[in-house]
Amino acid sequence: MSEGTGETSERTTVSRRNFLAVGSFALTAAALSGGLEAQMKQQTGQTLGWGKILNGKVAVVTGAARGIGRAAAIGMAECGANIVGIDICAVVDPRSGVEPATQVELEETGKQVTAAGVRWKSIVLDQRDLSALRKAAAEVEKDFGHIDILFANAGIQAFRPLLEMEDPDWHIQIDVNLTGTANAVRAFAPAMVKQGKGRIIMTTSTQGRHGTLNASAYSASKWGIIGLMKSAALELGKHGITVNALVPGLIDTPLTRHEERYEQVLQAAGRIPTGDVKKDEEAARKILQAKSPLGIPWIDPSEMAPVVVFFASDASRMVSGATYDVTGGDSANNI
Ligand SMILES: NC(=O)c1ccc[n+]([C@@H]2O[C@H](COP(=O)([O-])OP(=O)(O)OC[C@H]3O[C@@H](n4cnc5c(N)ncnc54)[C@H](O)[C@@H]3O)[C@@H](O)[C@H]2O)c1
Repeated sequence: MSEGTGETSERTTVSRRNFLAVGSFALTAAALSGGLEAQMKQQTGQTLGWGKILNGKVAVVTGAARGIGRAAAIGMAECGANIVGIDICAVVDPRSGVEPATQVELEETGKQVTAAGVRWKSIVLDQRDLSALRKAAAEVEKDFGHIDILFANAGIQAFRPLLEMEDPDWHIQIDVNLTGTANAVRAFAPAMVKQGKGRIIMTTSTQGRHGTLNASAYSASKWGIIGLMKSAALELGKHGITVNALVPGLIDTPLTRHEERYEQVLQAAGRIPTGDVKKDEEAARKILQAKSPLGIPWIDPSEMAPVVVFFASDASRMVSGATYDVTGGDSANNI
């Protein structure tokens, strides 16, 4: 910690930072669709006060082409981190209703990252492929000299009742979400072990905190990520590496904005979908809005960035094995 001049002042600095960081979570109700600090100032009249808290760090983000990955990449870039954005940029599960991400979207993330004045590198790979991830880790170490942060975020979602499933309905989601997240840790954590320091953040879900109608594979994969995160925290702590998980609620990304997902919302509420996207979207919006304690049907992905930045920073150095929910209040329904 650069500000500390002795043990006492370092402790004071760390607890003040933690205080600022934790206190600022309360301010994230406003949409942060642009720069973290600029948006915060515009929406609340205050800034987070984090400045370049990640200055010079190298952060690897999986699922960086769009959605939560893009928002976190931009948030960390604005706090001074150089970003390596990884994405498959291709169809992952032809059985899901989610539009695949593209290389154009990945490069758009790159544009927004470099606008913050930091370095960007994109890598296209499938996180089910451990050797591709290991090759990527070697490339990043060679290009950047070190790897400080891993945001293991890439994932997919599809719905299918358990008794109607065919094998791929189960395996693709478990392989991508759970095995792929473990692969990312296995590939990038060794660089952190070498330097005796690192930050790993995984993306789980509220659907990994409770059962989900017609989504057992997704729910199991996300519940599994919490077990993976806690086990990795136990194993990697001795190397100065913290491991934590972000728990997003329902976020406004291509993962959630399509007919299959609207149908799931309607079915969970005991309603019959019409098959008309516009009608089902509107009905889903009403159901979600009424259910959400903060009255938010879909949360803006930029709302995830402050928590990722906190987990990635020195302010969270005593936080490991933990989950942090950003759900617009849905967490109140979890036990
Ligand atoms: N959107 C939500 O409501 C929500 C809620 C809770 C958790 N999550 C989780 O957040 C993460 C990000 O989701 P999002 O909402 O931003 O979705 P998204 O579809 O917008 O982004 C996910 C990205 O991951 C990439 N990806 C998927 N499989 C990959 C693979 N095998 N290898 C490399 N990249 C791959 C996709 O191409 C895509 O760009 C996912 O793990 C998702 O399960 C999302």
